[in-house]
Amino acid sequence: MDKFEHISVKGFRRLQSTEIEMRNLVVMIGANGSGKTSFLDVLSTLAASASGNLNHTLQLKCGLSEILTRGKAQELEIEISMKVPDEEPLRYSLTLSPKGLSYEVKNETLTQQRNLNRPEPFKYIESHILDIKYFPGRQWTFETQLGS
Ligand SMILES: Nc1ncnc2c1ncn2[C@@H]1O[C@H](COP(=O)(O)OP(=O)(O)OP(=O)(O)O)[C@@H](O)[C@H]1O
Ligand SMILES: [Mg+2]
Repeated sequence: MDKFEHISVKGFRRLQSTEIEMRNLVVMIGANGSGKTSFLDVLSTLAASASGNLNHTLQLKCGLSEILTRGKAQELEIEISMKVPDEEPLRYSLTLSPKGLSYEVKNETLTQQRNLNRPEPFKYIESHILDIKYFPGRQWTFETQLGS
């Protein structure tokens, strides 16, 4: 994996709906309260999710309900695309929604358009609430699992 290409955030504190193209150097300039730290916190939330520490990290941020853009967001959506050398980008998508005092992972997917002749991308991860599927990185294995 090389680096993030594009990040889309909906509902994270000040970032009601934000798209950011990542470059080799990204400089954030903006007035106080415009969302710079919010964006850095999105990155740390993603890192926490990738390392299995999402629950703890959200607790440190006082929970998902505190993070959601007040009065504007019912759920938090983060989408990123990541460059992969000599391949199509990986696309990761995470949607969290409040549940009681905590949250649930409404959707989590990791996909890649590995076969350009197919409309559907290959899915490495496809989770909907408690229905969590991880697929090994070979297309034929994925098709076998879908049929079973
Ligand atoms: N859950 C929320 N919903 C909506 N707005 C929020 C939420 N939590 C914090 N904010 C607002 O976000 C703003 C702070 O955003 P952030 O810290 O990302 O700005 P910043 O660009 O880093 O500012 P600074 O230059 O002062 O560091 C404040 O105006 C705060 O009221
Ligand atoms: Mg700040």
